[in-house]
Parts: sequence; structure tokens; C-alpha cells
Amino acid sequence: KPAPPCTLIIFGAHGDLTKRLLMPALYNLTSAHLLDDQFTVIGVDRVDSNDDEWRKSLADTMQEFTKDPDAEFYTPEINQDWWGWLNQRLHYHKADFTDVSQLQGLAEHVNKTGNAVFYLAVASRFFATVVENIGKAGLTKQENDHFRRVVIEKPFGSDLDSSKALNASILKVLDESQIYRIDHFLGKETVQNILAMRFGNSVFEPLWRREHIDHVQITAAETVGVEGRGAFYEPTGALRDMIPNHLFQLFAMIAMEPPNSFSAETVRTAKEQLFEAVRPVTPEDSVRGQYGGGTVQGKQVTAYRESAGVAHDSNTETYVALKLHVDNWRWADVPFYMRTGKCLTGRRTEIVVHFRHAPFGMFHDTPMDKLPQNTLTLNIQPAQGVTWNIAAKIPGPKMELSGVEMKFRYEDAFKLTPNVGYETLLYDCLTGDATLFQRADNIDAAWKVVDPALKAWAADKSGPEIYQAGSAGPKGAEALLGRDGRQWAPLNQPE
Ligand code: BG6
Repeated sequence: KPAPPCTLIIFGAHGDLTKRLLMPALYNLTSAHLLDDQFTVIGVDRVDSNDDEWRKSLADTMQEFTKDPDAEFYTPEINQDWWGWLNQRLHYHKADFTDVSQLQGLAEHVNKTGNAVFYLAVASRFFATVVENIGKAGLTKQENDHFRRVVIEKPFGSDLDSSKALNASILKVLDESQIYRIDHFLGKETVQNILAMRFGNSVFEPLWRREHIDHVQITAAETVGVEGRGAFYEPTGALRDMIPNHLFQLFAMIAMEPPNSFSAETVRTAKEQLFEAVRPVTPEDSVRGQYGGGTVQGKQVTAYRESAGVAHDSNTETYVALKLHVDNWRWADVPFYMRTGKCLTGRRTEIVVHFRHAPFGMFHDTPMDKLPQNTLTLNIQPAQGVTWNIAAKIPGPKMELSGVEMKFRYEDAFKLTPNVGYETLLYDCLTGDATLFQRADNIDAAWKVVDPALKAWAADKSGPEIYQAGSAGPKGAEALLGRDGRQWAPLNQPE
């Protein structure tokens, strides 16, 4: 069913996010006939431009995607009918969004349908200002059943205090129900599939607890480096960039209590209860690293400190590993290990649930300590699916066991539709479903957990451990699990 008529106002029209992700997502929504005929997009930016130029620049980027099968949005051919439909609905509004007077002109566009979504695809330091200014320009008032919603990108604050301050500031202008704090990981099919798997099947939930699960590993390993984003990354670092948002969302999906429904408040309350049960991380349970030079998948990579926009003596971490403890009945004594990093040996985002060993060994040819550990891997990307690792008998006269895999892969089971991850989220926002967006308390609770690591690192001038680009990360991360007699899942095995 198409979303209701609406004007989408994108602040940061010339930014990377708009070009690389929002437009392809809007194109995909167009192709799925999910946008209303009166749907309009107003791109706001301070760059001198006009409707034609903006449309042309977006069309050029869309064309680039047709050439690169590795691009986030790859489609062999752009359907000109769909692109044409969307293209004629794109308008450009030049404005400095720190100046209220320059935003007044938006009212005329917004009043056409009455409904508006303001998308803040701008640097996080502008979030509060833009919200304040659209409020002052009278654009956020909801009258005559019309909605006015604001989508806010990450990072939301840079620690607990700044996140609270940002919330306080935007809540002066907006009601919580108007705020859509976005996390694009929740737009991924494979992330939403965790809910389908856990709560659409009866076999998992009885196993989903400390009696059966030994520990859980959550990984978001990237092969890319900072890629020209040095100015953003320097004050941010891997922890703020990935942990309280993306990795905490994966963690919530896997560890929260079953909600009674998928209503926004129920799901977000379940997440909140989980996050509140997590002990603030200690410096001993936090590891940071920074990539030095090296070779990633055959390509020479210069050290992080040599990248544009990065200080030569930078202490910003490009890798982080944490051990989290959840103090509740379900998860007491089951550690959740998280890691994320750039310029690593392999790209993979996954959750690996490690089950406890069989209670005793009865196979003479396979001693107890050689029995493979059962794992359930939720493959988020690039492999998309679910993998079970179970023990099976090796054919032959002996009773010898080996680990084997049972795999479900999306591409084998379903006809895949193009998806950059923002389609569902944009559609949900247009239709008023906030289930996949963060509530203020969820974000604060996540910051509360990681704050001690941020504080300890800021005070400790010895800096992160340097790891070679193309490796599996710093030695300290191996030691974090090693001291518990555990190992990280390998990053460079074929999936
Ligand atoms: C972004 C981070 O939010 O997520 C990037 O700012 C990171 O640093 C990216 O590379 C990872 O997202 P995805 O969807 O490519 O896994």
C-alpha cells in the first residue's frame, strides 16, 4: 500500500548519504509502487544549485551504480520510467540551515500535502540547530491530522551527557512521537530476520538462555578504511561510530526478551530492559586498536595516521572489542563479545551463538574436547542467511565426529529484491511506524554502557594498539577472549 502523500525534505542534499543511499532507496520504493502520486522531495543545502542540476547530479550517481556490482546499490539498468517518475518530484532549495530566514520558503512546499518528513542527513553537530530552526520557521507543528516527523541520523551525541543534552534540546521543539532516530542496520533484511527467526519458530526460544548458550560473538568487520571520511572519523572513532548504535541493535535483536507485539513501544521497551541490565563496561573488558599500513585483499593500504584529515599522532581507534555482561535471569554469566574494525582481513557482519558442549563424551574415537561446539551463525553480510554448525559422523568404520554446516542462504530460498537498507526505514517513517527506530532512552542506555571505556581512553595517552591493515585486528582483542579460554570466529574463511 503506498505511503500517504508527503513532502520529504532532505537537509544535506549534496551529501554522500543522499546520493549513495537515500536516492537509490527512494528509487526502489518507486519501483515497488510504495510512494504516493503527490510525493515530493525537497533537497536543502547551501551549495548553489537548482532543480535541474541537482536532478542531473543524482542521475549521474544512479548511473554509476549500474556499473559497479560491488556498489551498495547495484542494478544492471535504471528503469527510466521509474527514475523519471521520481526525478520530476525532486526540487532543490538553496539555504544555509543555520539561518531561520532561509528556511521560511519551505513552508510553501510543505503545505501542499500538509504532511512532511524532515531528514537530517547532515553532520551531527547540526542536529540541534536544524531542529531548532525548523521549529522556529513553524514547520514542525502538526495540525489538521497532518504529520511532521524528523529523521535523525547517527551518531546521536558523542557520550551519555551530550546525548541527553541533544535529546533535551530537540524535545523542546518536537514531541518524542515525531522523532525517528535512524539506525540503518535495522533496515537490513538479515537483521529483521533475527526477529522472524527467534519469534516465528518454536525451536529456538527454549534454547535461548544461559542453560544452553555458552557465549555470543557479535562482529562487524570491514575491509574498508576511513575512505576520505577522516574529518568525521577523527573525533568519532570506531566505538562511537558503531557500538552504541549498530552493534547494540544487533545485540538487542538477539538478546531482548520476546515482546508481546511488534508495536513500537513494546519492542523499544524490551530493548530498554535489556540495555538496562548490561553492566557498564570496564576498561579491562575494552580493547582498542588502530590500523597501521598493510595489504588488504591484495591492495596496499596506508596507515590510518597517514589518511587525509587525520592527525599524525592520532589516538582515534579504528577497532574496538568489548566483553559485556548482562545481569538478568536469561543471560547471567553468558558473555557477549562485540568487535568492529576497519581494514581487517575479511568483511563480515555476523552474530555467532556458541552453545554449550554436549554434557559428556561417549564417542571413543572423538574425545570430549574434540567434539565440535555447536554454533548458530546469523550471517548478516556479505553472506545473508543462517548457518548451523553441528557434529556428524565421518563415514567409515570408526565412530569419529566432525563439525559440519547446515546453511540457509537468502539467494537460494528467495528471489532477492534490490535493497540498500533504507527502503523499509523510509517507508516506515512515512507510514508512522517507529518500531525500527530508537527511542531516547534506548540511546542513553547504550551510551551508559560504553561511557567508562570512552572516559578511560580519553585519559590514557598511551593510545590504541596498532594492528596491521589486512590482519584480524589487535592482539589485545585475541587476549580478551583468550583469557576466558575462547577464540573469535575467523574473519577470512569462505562463507
Ligand atoms: C556507518 C559507519 O554508520 O556504517 C561507517 O559510519 C560504516 O563507518 C558503516 O562503514 C557500515 O555499514 P554497512 O551497512 O556498510 O555495514
